[in-house]
Amino acid sequence: MSYLKINGGHPLSGEIEVSGAKNAALPIMAASILTDEDVYLKRIPDISDVWIMADILRSLGAKVEFEGKGEMYINCSNLTNFYPPYEFVGKMNASFDVTGPLLARLGEAKVSLPGGCNLGSRPVDMHMDAFRNLGAEVEFVHGFVHAKANKLTGKKIQFRRVSVGATKNAMMAAVLADGITVLESAAMEPEIVDLAVFLNTMGARITGIGSSTIVIEGVKKLHGLSYEIIPDRILTGTYLVAGAITRGTITVKRTWPDFLESFINAMRNAGQNIVCGKDYITVEKSDKILPTEIISAPHPGFPTDLQPVITALLSIADGTSIVTENIFDRRFMYVDELRRLGANMSVSDRTCIIRGVKKLFGAPVKAHDIRAGGSLICACLSAEGESIITGLEFIDRGHEKIESVLAELGADIRRID
Ligand code: EPZ
Repeated sequence: MSYLKINGGHPLSGEIEVSGAKNAALPIMAASILTDEDVYLKRIPDISDVWIMADILRSLGAKVEFEGKGEMYINCSNLTNFYPPYEFVGKMNASFDVTGPLLARLGEAKVSLPGGCNLGSRPVDMHMDAFRNLGAEVEFVHGFVHAKANKLTGKKIQFRRVSVGATKNAMMAAVLADGITVLESAAMEPEIVDLAVFLNTMGARITGIGSSTIVIEGVKKLHGLSYEIIPDRILTGTYLVAGAITRGTITVKRTWPDFLESFINAMRNAGQNIVCGKDYITVEKSDKILPTEIISAPHPGFPTDLQPVITALLSIADGTSIVTENIFDRRFMYVDELRRLGANMSVSDRTCIIRGVKKLFGAPVKAHDIRAGGSLICACLSAEGESIITGLEFIDRGHEKIESVLAELGADIRRID
């Protein structure tokens, strides 16, 4: 079993570059299904979720080459299959992203309910409704969503709640449909914007990008392209918390501060000195961590994926903080692990009350999902003494070379295999 060994209590300092965004890279890889021409991608993160998506595309007949230097080549001219194996799809939620593109390109997709992080129920009913709205026959049998359509036709689709996944799948299915599709209450996350810009660069006609109403005028064909993925805002936030929680000064470069407005405001409310440039963010050493209130919400609200991470910081604030989770019903599962390190936290329904303690102390802990992993890494970096973090299969899904990046900033962290 692999684990991370961290000797905490050392301030981090220095500069690092953040990798490309996992949650933009995965749907963009899936969207490559929509063209039979060559797709070249840059700034693809070297993480296990990307390797799984590459395996899924290969299982459908695509050619995928990834050198691990952020560059990937995809060619989907010979798609032979609309039925990716359960062994891959069951490993991550984003594998369901291939459903919309397969339906649009081949007229059929059979994809099992996805697996991945256990954050509570992860239904796909809104994805299925969107496909039905576009004219597909969709049934759910033996654990698989089976969608078929001779032809997709543009339609107005009103989502009953904001969903990143359903917005992505509806958008990817609609780009080759006949006529105009309007998505109402669409997700506005930067990763959705990146996917839409990618599709437009392939020849799609999407407007309203970044707003809650996205309009897609179907086109007959999409072409190949070369495209660079946006920086990872969640990893950027994770590194900034790692700097703040160790009372260090660190700069994250090649990132976009505009993506992180609500997170930056929350860090400032927590007494942190944040300096933003055009493409970097610095957190400067601060003596105090102030208690604050966090309420997660769809973009531009506070991102649910940074909720566990900032909670680690608030566990050593001078007072009581309140964190409300509005997206996933079981996102607080990591709280028990922070308690092992000495945090004083209690959860009731969607709210977590954090009574700040002076210090955390090293202990063995386990990550149960990607962002819980980010939270535990930050907490262990600040905790006095040695910590062991297991559950690396989750951490490696979303954090590129995490131990080397943090070691570059002076952390005493080692991966033991
Ligand atoms: C995406 O998940 C991200 N994953 C998540 O990041 C992120 O936490 C989440 O969006 C919210 O920002 C990827 O991009 C790969 P949703 P997704 O559809 O698409 C409910 C990470 O660590 N819902 O916006 O699955 C759902 O249960 C991951 O990188 C339905 O009810 O999220 C949830 O409560 C974790 N029916 C809410 O909507 C549906 O058909 C939002 O989910 C779909 C969703």
